[in-house]
Amino acid sequence: MTTNETGSRLALITGASSGIGAACATSLAAAGWSLLLQGRDGERTEAVALRTRALGAEAESCLADLTADDDLARLVAVTAGRPLHALVHAAGLITLGRVADVDTAALDDHYALNVRAPYALTRALLPNLRDARGHVVFVNSGAGRQAKARWSAYAASKFALRALADALREEEDALRVTTVYPGRTATPMQEAVRAAEGAAYEPSAFVQPDAVAAQIVALLELPRPSLVSELIIRPG
Ligand SMILES: NC(=O)c1ccc[n+]([C@@H]2O[C@H](COP(=O)([O-])OP(=O)(O)OC[C@H]3O[C@@H](n4cnc5c(N)ncnc54)[C@H](OP(=O)(O)O)[C@@H]3O)[C@@H](O)[C@H]2O)c1
Repeated sequence: MTTNETGSRLALITGASSGIGAACATSLAAAGWSLLLQGRDGERTEAVALRTRALGAEAESCLADLTADDDLARLVAVTAGRPLHALVHAAGLITLGRVADVDTAALDDHYALNVRAPYALTRALLPNLRDARGHVVFVNSGAGRQAKARWSAYAASKFALRALADALREEEDALRVTTVYPGRTATPMQEAVRAAEGAAYEPSAFVQPDAVAAQIVALLELPRPSLVSELIIRPG
């Protein structure tokens, strides 16, 4: 396996500015990985990068809106010629509402970030991933396995994301591909979901982002030829 100049493996994490993506960044840093951290907000992404550097990691903030093709191209350019050992797709969005109330523009937003962006980014980075015999992790959702009332747009996008992962796993012999299905996790996204549901937000009742991140690091570190192809994590 090819590593960078410092001998560590390189991971690109999307949605690294917050929640599960940020937790993955610190957990991977603690495990000795080098990091490319995609975020939209410079200050918040750099704050995560600083935390990872304090753990000894080489970390670079890469600012990009994943729904903008120019930004995607700039993000891909940062990785030029660098073997990529892990690509963790954590960026995502959700709007709750009945089909009767959620318009097609909102559906398009889910498709753009939750499906099209991981498709486009994975596709563009296939050479880097093949070089490293890398691992692609798709952060999906319980809603990617079971769609409930008021979750249609988000669930449809996450079902599609599962399809992308399953097909990619079959196609790319050199790669490992994992779908992770977290249940309700204590992040800003879940706080917004609870507000939309008119319910109290009690972070301690939910899966902790660090727990999801620890499982992702564990499955990335699992020696070949073993593969955790799917992983469900739920409060309980
Ligand atoms: N929290 C849960 O209960 C839960 C459960 C199951 C699955 N998930 C999944 O877990 C993943 C991470 O979610 P989270 O809970 O950690 O939420 P979060 O804290 O709200 O983080 C979402 C991330 O997505 C980024 N993002 C949003 N729009 C973007 C865009 N257009 N381009 C680039 N990045 C964008 C955000 O960037 P900004 O900081 O710039 O907004 C942020 O980094 C998502 O895929 C979500 O569907 C979450």
